[in-house]
Amino acid sequence: MSSKELEPFKKRAELAEQEIEKLWKEFERLKGLEIPGECSSDNSEILKLRQENTKLKYRLTILKKFVDSLREKEKANNEDNSPKMLSIQEELEKIFLDGITEAFPDIVDPPVIISVSSKDPKFGDYQCNSAMSLSKLLSAQGKKVSPRDVANSIVEKVKSSKFIEKLEIAGPGFINIYLSREYAFSALTTLVQAGKVPPPYVEKKKIVVDFSSPNIAKEMHVGHLRSTIIGESISRLLEYLGHDVLRLNHVGDWGTQFGMLIAHLQDEFPNYLNVSPAISDLQSFYKQSKKRFDEDEEFKKRAYSCVVKLQAFDPDIKKAWEMICDVSRIEFEKLYKRLDVSIIERGESFYQKMMEKLVIELEKNNFLEEDEGRKIMWGDNDKKTGIPLTVVKSDGGFTYDTSDMACIKHRIEEEKADWVIYVTDGGQSVHFQTIESCAKRAGILNNNVKMDHVPFGVVLGEDKKKFKTRSGDTVKLLDLLDEGLKRALDKLKEKGRHQELTDEELKKAQESVAYGCIKYADLSHNRNHEYVFSFDKMLDDKGNTAVYLLYALTRIKSIARNANISREKIIEAIENTKISLEHEKEWKLGKILLRFPEILLKITKDLYLHPLCEYCYDVCCAFTEFYDKCYCVEKDKSGEIIKVNMGRILLTEATAIVLEQCFLLLGLKPVDRM
Ligand code: ARG
Repeated sequence: MSSKELEPFKKRAELAEQEIEKLWKEFERLKGLEIPGECSSDNSEILKLRQENTKLKYRLTILKKFVDSLREKEKANNEDNSPKMLSIQEELEKIFLDGITEAFPDIVDPPVIISVSSKDPKFGDYQCNSAMSLSKLLSAQGKKVSPRDVANSIVEKVKSSKFIEKLEIAGPGFINIYLSREYAFSALTTLVQAGKVPPPYVEKKKIVVDFSSPNIAKEMHVGHLRSTIIGESISRLLEYLGHDVLRLNHVGDWGTQFGMLIAHLQDEFPNYLNVSPAISDLQSFYKQSKKRFDEDEEFKKRAYSCVVKLQAFDPDIKKAWEMICDVSRIEFEKLYKRLDVSIIERGESFYQKMMEKLVIELEKNNFLEEDEGRKIMWGDNDKKTGIPLTVVKSDGGFTYDTSDMACIKHRIEEEKADWVIYVTDGGQSVHFQTIESCAKRAGILNNNVKMDHVPFGVVLGEDKKKFKTRSGDTVKLLDLLDEGLKRALDKLKEKGRHQELTDEELKKAQESVAYGCIKYADLSHNRNHEYVFSFDKMLDDKGNTAVYLLYALTRIKSIARNANISREKIIEAIENTKISLEHEKEWKLGKILLRFPEILLKITKDLYLHPLCEYCYDVCCAFTEFYDKCYCVEKDKSGEIIKVNMGRILLTEATAIVLEQCFLLLGLKPVDRM
């Protein structure tokens, strides 16, 4: 974006500023008149002006921010010459915003509605549907212009661009946009040359993603599995876009339950300071200690004193605590390794000192209220939910709330995060809303930092009840992965693959299918909904499943390989062969591939990943249609290759590259043979 291209935005900013200026003058004048009863400060005229003024100021801020972000982009583009794959939708939005602003300069912040056209090619490839709303806005200003005339004026003003082949007006005022094939060739060629998809441009941010976050000594359950899978993919997406991402595991490693665990450890393994105890089953260890805690007064007292000592970092007690944490940690690590998840542990205990300081600060600023012995804090609009934070318990201890307040402060002030994302089950929504409003009230969180809770629904068993083992226990996650492995192997054997593949290939395929299907089943559903965990469904090779996609990519990649076309040959070919986009099915596939950046930018906004899965499925379906209709390689009756259509092989290569990038984001591991 050049300075010249920024002009229309600056013009709009100036316009809005002038408008505000005018209104204020009018306001001052009216106030100056001081007509008794009519122009007092509660006068409706003044109120209206005030409102109008606030609205305009708000728009102006947005506009200024937008201009700043464009400037930033301009700067980055000048510094960084690496190829970028652009979001066509975003580019069209810019082009149309310019056109609309030029055609209707009096409309501040006009609606720019660009969408992908329906399947019928006669509606073009994209559409601009702004004419109807603009016509309404104009009529509110007393100007009668039909939507069709609005569309005409827009089309007149839209500048020619490398993205657009032609524009057509249809129906009452839809503008059909035909994508330029030249642009499609060049973008897909860049992609094939690079052998990867260059990410679209985004403004770089420091982002903390808080995910997985299981609790020590308690079973890591399917909810944590969902958080792990979703959080990992969100992190991968943001890293791919070039952000500085800090992946944090906010492990539940602090709190009163550690008192009883430590007291129990002291009794069971008195020599714990010298010899590492083997608490292989921390679960039953936890149960035993809880039983003693509930039944034995003496033990209870000792447990409490252990908590106090732990929070004061008594070295022996801390050692016991570390040992207990280590047992859980080893289990967590096994899961992360198998699922290829990387994350840094920074549990609640990390914030102990900060909690102490924070409480003093909050107290000093009168943010805390007494409530039956505890100290609570209300956010600005928490009275609605009726739930304040409990910052200090009646026994003086801190809570989950306290640690999250200290934690957000640390992430913003020390980690310098621009965006903090929490991935947990939907049951914690109120908790995070309250943390957000209290952090705002305390001046920790301001408008420059975004905080998002990414909630998800519960996992159900095939009986539609809470996911449990047959005997009603929590399902151990490692057992679940093992079952996935077994089922995946059965599936491959059912298809006779064990006779075709080497042992090593079979093992790779088995792991890829097992872990891939568990991740994909989670990611392909709208995360807000509860979802039914079913290996049968996940392992289906038809429909939008990991198995189908993994097979599809393997098949796509085998086309060039079977025709003896190496990556070197592809690189050579791309120099003098045009990617084939003539046939209707080729064009359809090519256009879908080009939509990749658009999908990424969309999912980055709302952090719903299922559209990316739908996109993968669309790519595979479009590929199948293309492959059915268009020969890439022609063979004679004996199976000998007689002709290779290189332009189509290149399109096949582009498809593989885009799909591989999607798989990387979703955590699916492609295999050469399966
Ligand atoms: N340990 C918590 C749980 O199991 C999740 C922690 C999420 N992160 C946070 N900063 N509160 O529910």
